[in-house]
Amino acid sequence: MGIVEEDIARVRAATDFVALVGEHLALRKVGTRWTGLCPFHAEKSPSFSVNAELGLYYCFGCGAKGDAISFLRETEHLDFVEAIEKLAARAGVTLRYDDDATGGGRDRQRRNRIHEALEAAVQWYHECLLTSPDARAARGYLRRERGYDGDVVRRYRIGWAPEGWDRLVRGLGVPPAVLVDAGLATVDEKGRYTDFFRGRILFPIFDPGGRPVGAGGRMLPGGRLPKYKNTANTAVYDKSRTLYGLNWAKRAVVEKGRVVVCEGYTDVIGLQQAGVEEAVATCGTALAEGHIKQLTNFARRIHLAYDGDSAGQAAAEKFYEWEKRYEVEIRVIGLPAGDDPADVARRDPAALTAAVDEARPYLGFRLDRLLARSDLSTPEGRSRAAGSAVAMIGAHPDVLVRDQYLMDVADRCRVDADRLRAMAEAGPVDAAPEGRPAPSRDPRRPDPPPGPSPAETPAVGLSGPELEALRLAVHRRDEVVGRLERPLFSHVLAANAFEVIRATADLHQAIEAADPQVAGLLQRLAVEDSDADPDDVAIRLVERAVQRELRELQSEMRQLPPAEQASYAPTITWLKLGLERMRADDVTRHAQAVEAEEHLVAWLVERHAVDPAVTGSMM
Ligand code: CTP
Ligand code: MN
Repeated sequence: MGIVEEDIARVRAATDFVALVGEHLALRKVGTRWTGLCPFHAEKSPSFSVNAELGLYYCFGCGAKGDAISFLRETEHLDFVEAIEKLAARAGVTLRYDDDATGGGRDRQRRNRIHEALEAAVQWYHECLLTSPDARAARGYLRRERGYDGDVVRRYRIGWAPEGWDRLVRGLGVPPAVLVDAGLATVDEKGRYTDFFRGRILFPIFDPGGRPVGAGGRMLPGGRLPKYKNTANTAVYDKSRTLYGLNWAKRAVVEKGRVVVCEGYTDVIGLQQAGVEEAVATCGTALAEGHIKQLTNFARRIHLAYDGDSAGQAAAEKFYEWEKRYEVEIRVIGLPAGDDPADVARRDPAALTAAVDEARPYLGFRLDRLLARSDLSTPEGRSRAAGSAVAMIGAHPDVLVRDQYLMDVADRCRVDADRLRAMAEAGPVDAAPEGRPAPSRDPRRPDPPPGPSPAETPAVGLSGPELEALRLAVHRRDEVVGRLERPLFSHVLAANAFEVIRATADLHQAIEAADPQVAGLLQRLAVEDSDADPDDVAIRLVERAVQRELRELQSEMRQLPPAEQASYAPTITWLKLGLERMRADDVTRHAQAVEAEEHLVAWLVERHAVDPAVTGSMM
């Protein structure tokens, strides 16, 4: 290793553990302890506890425990030495080494230098904006066009990057190579350094702990395009998970249990100034899984202040997937067409806060838009609208949710609800609303071959991993059939199809043995290709099945008197831990992941065997 043992103890003692944890999740003081949402497993109510004096944490939900070093290692994926070096730098402890500094240490030092350079640059740019004569136009723009007074400019540490080639490089007094590492300068082949931001208003971006990691630079009206230049990824900045504003928003996010995600720096400032303090923004990218993961440390309700409809069907599928996987709820805030949150914030702050509160589930929001666009004055128009709505609804994975929207659409299009249900059930397997081809179908085979008529395959909702697993079971039987079990399938048709494949020697026999619906599905699957990864499909399938059971267990538990609820905790904890182990994609943990999958499947089989009510009487 290398660090002198005594120094490790000094680092532990000198670390403000509550402040450290507070950079990763919001903590609230309860009595003498601090609690928050556990960063190591998905949860909605806080079971992560910190003992500030001892510098220790323990999660009552998943059993995660440790000290400052293990916390940093787990949350930031550092090795032991890196974690200590980081803590030492924070606490101002100088480390002594037994031998030469390790590679990990050098990496750590490099990141520290980047943070320091960014901190200096943010301050330098900020002072330029406040005092420099050539920032007069920028100051005027911020005041007049944006309505920012001095307080706003200071709170958000807004800056001005002056015109010229290398004002920062020359003026900051930081080695230019470090500025390149920080994304603040570029270097050409002749070794000349140029500022990355020139003639732009800068919105510095901070990590949740308030350290600068990058910036977004907006041109002045009439300036050089593009309108925004954003820091490229660096050792300390990853745009697919960074959220602008989270450092200011996190308290409010935790208190309100929700976060508002918008598209722009000025939208965050507008929302926060209008009283929506829980606002954050992606930084020049679409909302990605990394952002969602980051947010689950703080809240479970995510309200999007995006143009919700432009995201469309592709986004819908991602959102449904994330809602399940991360136990989040994604809603969309309706804003007047053509307005962004910053516009509404200035014109009518009360309307903005109301719109945030009235955010709707994504599917409901899209259906409203669809019906608003449709001609509902004629039977033909209403029937067209109902048809499109059914396709949109069909992509939602939850049958009860689908059914409620179907009834709502039936009402509004004045058609019979049962007829709509029948239409929905007759829809093609993995219905592709709005004419988009089903992603899993072979593009070289655009016309489905003659086979069972759609009416024979009532497969609405049969999509995603269940369908993919059946495809694999049909085409690469030996790789998947052995590791799957019936309770992994929530859709009756899929479960029956799986059973018949497993019980027979080949697909021909399976089709012969199956009832007409299942046979139709198998025939259809037989002509589709699959390039899915069996591991990936199996894991997703197990994940979903376990999450279904977890919901079930949790609702069972809630019906019991508090004294009896505790008996559920070990099972719930065990399942969640199993999920985490199974998801681990680290190569060295592969065996553990496989084992976790096996154990979870065995548990599912057993639970369904003793509880016929769960399985139903489907066969
Ligand atoms: N954006 C970007 N690159 C661009 C344009 C926009 O990365 N060329 C991102 C930025 O993150 C920006 C957000 O999209 O904050 C919102 O863009 P927009 O509303 O166009 O920016 P505003 O500064 O609000 O401009 P306007 O005054 O026109 O509303
Ligand atoms: Mn805007």
